[in-house]
Amino acid sequence: MKAKAVSSANIAFIKFWGKKVPSLNIPFNNSISMNLSNCLTKTTVEFRPDLKKDMVLVNKKTMSSDSYQRVVRFLNIIRKMARINYKAKVYTQNNFPSDAGIASSASGFSALALAASTAAGLKLNKNRLSALARLGSGSACRSIPDGFSEWRKGKSDESSYAREIFPVNYWDLCDIVAVVSSERKKKSSGEGHEAALTSPYFKERQKQLPKRITDFKMALQKKDFELLGKLIEEEAIDLHLIAMSSKPPIFYLNNHTFEVIESLRAWREKGLQAYFTMDAGPNVHVICREKDVVKVNSKLKKIPGVNFTIVNYAALGTRLI
Ligand code: DP6
Repeated sequence: MKAKAVSSANIAFIKFWGKKVPSLNIPFNNSISMNLSNCLTKTTVEFRPDLKKDMVLVNKKTMSSDSYQRVVRFLNIIRKMARINYKAKVYTQNNFPSDAGIASSASGFSALALAASTAAGLKLNKNRLSALARLGSGSACRSIPDGFSEWRKGKSDESSYAREIFPVNYWDLCDIVAVVSSERKKKSSGEGHEAALTSPYFKERQKQLPKRITDFKMALQKKDFELLGKLIEEEAIDLHLIAMSSKPPIFYLNNHTFEVIESLRAWREKGLQAYFTMDAGPNVHVICREKDVVKVNSKLKKIPGVNFTIVNYAALGTRLI
C-alpha cells in the first residue's frame, strides 16, 4: 500500500479567485494555467496498519498544525473512498526552495492525490483524479493534466475538474519566476478567496471574464504572444485590484514587484517581449519566449530587488514514479 508521485506547480494565466462552494473548492469561473517544469514536488505515501496517527514530513520537517490538519482531512477523503482505516506515512520533497514564496499547494496536493489514491488501491482516471486534487487545493486540479490546462468550474464535485487544452511541447513559452520576497505571506490564498467577494470589482471581473477567456484561448490557438501578454497582465492586475479593494484590503505586492513590472515595460519599449503575472504574493512570473529566455533572465537578475530566479518551461502533469 505504497506509491510515489511527482507533480509540478502551475502558473494561472486566467486566475481562480473566489470560491462559489468553499467546502468543495468550486470556483466562480474557469481558469487556465501552464505546468512549471522546475517547481516540482515528489510525494511518497504508505498506508500502514501499525500507525496510530498520520505522519507527514515536508522536506524532512514536520508541518504546522494547520497544514497537517489539511493533509489529514484530505487523507480522510481518500480513506473513505477506498474504505480503509489505516493511517499513512507521507514524505514530501519540493525541488524549489521552500522560502521562495512559490505556492506549493498545487504541486503538493496533486502529487498527494495520485500517490495516496494509488497507495489506497484506487484507480482513478485523470478527470476524477483532478476533481480529487481540487478538494485539497483548488489550483492543484490544474497540475494533474499535461502542459496547458483549463479548469472548467462545473456545477458539482464530479463536474469541476481540469483538462489538457494544449500539450507540453505546443509552444515554447517560458515562465521565469523573479523571487523578490521569501517571506511567508501574511494572508493565505484561502483568506483572499473569501475576501474577494467583498470587493465591488469582483462582479465586474466576472462580467468581463467570458470575453477575456475566449480571447485568451484565441491567443493560445494562434500563438499570438502579444495578445497573450496583454491579457495575462490585465488578469493579474484585476486579481490584485480585487484583493486591494477587499474589506479589509489585502496587499500581496511590494515595491520590488513594481520595480520588475516597470523594467518589463521599459524593455518592451525597446522590443524585448516579456510580460508579467502574479499570484497571491509579491513574486513576479515573467512570461517570455524561449529565444529571449537567456537575455530576460540575466536582465532580471540585475534588478536589485530580485533575490533569485527560477526558469520554467511547460511540464507534464502528475505521474507515478
Ligand atoms: C492566486 O488553489 O491556492 O494562485 O483552494 O484555498 O488552496 P485553495 O486556493 P489556491 O488558490 C490559487 C489562487 C491563485 C490563482 C490561481 O492559481 O488560479
